[in-house]
Amino acid sequence: MNNHPKPISSTSSFQKISTKRKLESIFLFVTGKCNARCAMCFYSGDMDIKKEDLTFDEMKKISETAGEFNRLWLSGGEPTLRTDLPEILEMFYKNNKIKDINFPTNGLMPDRVVEWVTRFRRNCPNCMITVSVSLDGFEETHDVQRGVPGNFYKALETLKKVTHNFGKDPRVMTNIATVITKYNYEQIYDFMVWVYGRFNMATHTIEAARGLTREEGVKILTEASLKKLQDEVSPIYSGYAERMKAKTEGLRGKITKIFYLGLMRTLYNVRADNIDKPTPWGMDCTAGETTLVIDYDGRFRSCELRESIGNVKDYECNVTDIIHSVAMKKEIGEIGHGYKANCWCTHGCWIMSSIVFNPCKMISSVYKGYRQSKKINKPLSFINENHLRNLEEKYKLDKEKLSQLNKKFIL
Ligand SMILES: C[S@@+](CC[C@H](N)C(=O)[O-])C[C@H]1O[C@@H](n2cnc3c(N)ncnc32)[C@H](O)[C@@H]1O
Ligand code: SF4
Ligand code: SF4
Repeated sequence: MNNHPKPISSTSSFQKISTKRKLESIFLFVTGKCNARCAMCFYSGDMDIKKEDLTFDEMKKISETAGEFNRLWLSGGEPTLRTDLPEILEMFYKNNKIKDINFPTNGLMPDRVVEWVTRFRRNCPNCMITVSVSLDGFEETHDVQRGVPGNFYKALETLKKVTHNFGKDPRVMTNIATVITKYNYEQIYDFMVWVYGRFNMATHTIEAARGLTREEGVKILTEASLKKLQDEVSPIYSGYAERMKAKTEGLRGKITKIFYLGLMRTLYNVRADNIDKPTPWGMDCTAGETTLVIDYDGRFRSCELRESIGNVKDYECNVTDIIHSVAMKKEIGEIGHGYKANCWCTHGCWIMSSIVFNPCKMISSVYKGYRQSKKINKPLSFINENHLRNLEEKYKLDKEKLSQLNKKFIL
């Protein structure tokens, strides 16, 4: 089942541990358009304003003035609806020497994803790209949460096509991104087991729904329920860690496993501590110093959860000026540092981005987290064909559609 070869040595952001804070990641909302209507979408309010997307020339100025940085996180809206995205990505690769791209998609356009990733790999050979397909649960649940009938099988098609076309490419990573809500909470464990067993993904991230959601009342997690769920799914992460280890030779494989499990557990601990009320992370959040969010219409922010503090158009799209602006300095001051810090949340991307710049915290938490996850680890040998079929039965998946997908794209 595991047909990935050994990964090449990457200089991804997580391997560049540093105390020196500088721009590390830009979160670029490439469009405000979307072809879905997700109940939990934190961006629906922003999209509803219906402003124009930044033009290619504005993006060009952003890229030309941002200097070198490591990671470009795409967002939106649905990135596959931004038809000049391939050119935009190539521009950031050339100008900013980015090492990683995170490309999230709702999976409604499988062929476009394959076409664009193929092009990206051809024209930007030294950059990692993670295709992160949003999948929130089994068929009916997914389609209800996403507001699009048939989205589930389209997203599966995207997954199959991506793993089929890039499974052997060490610079293409695959992820499934699941947002936990009232719709899917009860089935998250079964769903993660099924995804692990059926798809050769590198990892599967779960996020607690955050922010201002389109539908009220979808955020139902509490510290206790989130901790219970996270403990329950922890062995699946050990399975993913084993997959990673298998792809990496010798000592590096073992280190990768420890690092991955330790980081995942750290993320879980910090997130669970913050679900009921803001609680200090035990490290600075480096939002605004190492990260910049640019919305589709040019507003900019230090992170996805804070208010915008300006518009790039008022700075002639000059990122260097924005980073050193009075507005950004004030914002960083308001987030605060050390014991003066006063802004905490559950956002996985920022918890992970910040930990890289807090090496002491990173080393101690990774070690502690690894030990915690080892303690609650359980064998995954129960995940066999029979078990997977039972889950497909239980959640009433369409056998015909599944078998068509399996026939076409054998992993
Ligand atoms: C805003 S979407 C943009 C990309 C694309 N439209 C998609 O849905 O994959 C980026 C990611 O955020 C997730 N997301 C949406 N609303 C969320 C919320 N309230 N809390 C946490 N994650 C959320 C989506 O499921 C997706 O994985
Ligand atoms: S989560 Fe993604 S697909 Fe869903 S409405 Fe928001 S932007 Fe669109
Ligand atoms: S703690 Fe969360 S909300 Fe506060 S600045 Fe950091 S990422 Fe933003």
